[in-house]
Amino acid sequence: MVQAPSLVELNTAQDVIEADLNYICDHLKEEFAAMSGKQLLITGGAGFLGYYLVQSVFHWNTIHPSQPPIQLTIYENFIRGIPDWLTNLKDNPNLTLVKHDITNPLPADIGNFQFIIHAASIASPIFYRKYPIETMDANVNGLRYLLEYCRQQKEAGTPVEGFLFYSTSEIYGDPTPGDIPTPETYRGNVSCTGPRACYDESKRYGETLCVNFAQQYDLPIKTARPFNNYGPGLKITDRRVLPDFVRDVLNGRDIVMLSDGAPTRTFCYIADAIVGYYKILAKGRPGEAYNIGVETPEISMAELAERVVTLAKELWGYEGKVVRQASADKDYLVDNPNRRCPIIDKARADLGYDPSITIDEGLKRSMVWYQDNREAEDA
Ligand SMILES: NC(=O)c1ccc[n+]([C@@H]2O[C@H](COP(=O)([O-])OP(=O)(O)OC[C@H]3O[C@@H](n4cnc5c(N)ncnc54)[C@H](O)[C@@H]3O)[C@@H](O)[C@H]2O)c1
Repeated sequence: MVQAPSLVELNTAQDVIEADLNYICDHLKEEFAAMSGKQLLITGGAGFLGYYLVQSVFHWNTIHPSQPPIQLTIYENFIRGIPDWLTNLKDNPNLTLVKHDITNPLPADIGNFQFIIHAASIASPIFYRKYPIETMDANVNGLRYLLEYCRQQKEAGTPVEGFLFYSTSEIYGDPTPGDIPTPETYRGNVSCTGPRACYDESKRYGETLCVNFAQQYDLPIKTARPFNNYGPGLKITDRRVLPDFVRDVLNGRDIVMLSDGAPTRTFCYIADAIVGYYKILAKGRPGEAYNIGVETPEISMAELAERVVTLAKELWGYEGKVVRQASADKDYLVDNPNRRCPIIDKARADLGYDPSITIDEGLKRSMVWYQDNREAEDA
């Protein structure tokens, strides 16, 4: 088993990516071997999770040259452009990039996919509140087209072997204290009309679609509920909490916290999360949802900011501090849950999911990566 290399050795973004891709492939030997020579479709593959979902497949192909490669197709609307890392892969013979908006009917020449990951959606609260209808359409109508495809493929005798829908931990809303940490069986405490409802409720309905297609047509459709992933691939301009903090640091200014710092989360480093997602795709039980995250430590936004300050001091001699400011956006914190923390026993037991990258290690890796991926840091 590849141990996470000591951080001292990881000085550049390339070092971090290499270490993470080795870690992911080492933890997915069985799952990637089962996908060898098969066709995988990822929708929304240009996004944050796409960054490692895509690169880990090609890394696997590269380090296992004797096995038939996994063939990957990406459907994307490229609403925020084609990222450089994807442009750099465009000559890869095992990659097909298709500009396609998933809220439209699927291309007529779609072909036969054995594995599908539906990650196309708008995931950042700032952006989904700006584009609520598009967010709902991707999670409901886009999903529906893909589920219909699975049903038709089975009828045609070319069945899909695994389908993964990205739901979210937000489907739990703001759980009552007795339901934290939260198991998959918790039903949620969610507003159906608040500013976040476009996201939470469309993911909830998406899950209902998945369960019913799995049961009614006996299809291998599974769901992931990610809990606060962070790390390489998450754009510095994405307006999520860690990139916002790191952007302040890289600009040499104080870290601005837009809440009182009290809400708590458990943060799951992206390399561990990606392992969990591919495990669900390959081994998850049809019609079932899995929490993917880490159980500890549950830290407040104020503690996260302080950890970033400490690490930035160590890495770059940063001399700033944390300051508080009210957001100009009046809905910024409406329906923002106070605590978020998963129980991941189900993924551990069913899938062998076992996240191991600590928060300090993950934060350092992320910061090293951002240092080399700061192109838009003044935005
Ligand atoms: N990152 C997390 O911590 C997290 C947490 C919970 C859930 N999720 C879910 O995981 C999935 C991926 O998240 P992410 O963080 O990579 O998001 P992201 O916003 O970084 O990437 C999503 C990608 O989907 C594409 N997209 C959006 N609408 C589309 C459409 N209609 N047609 C085609 N492409 C479209 C975007 O261009 C983008 O590249 C999403 O469904 C998200 O809701 C992520």
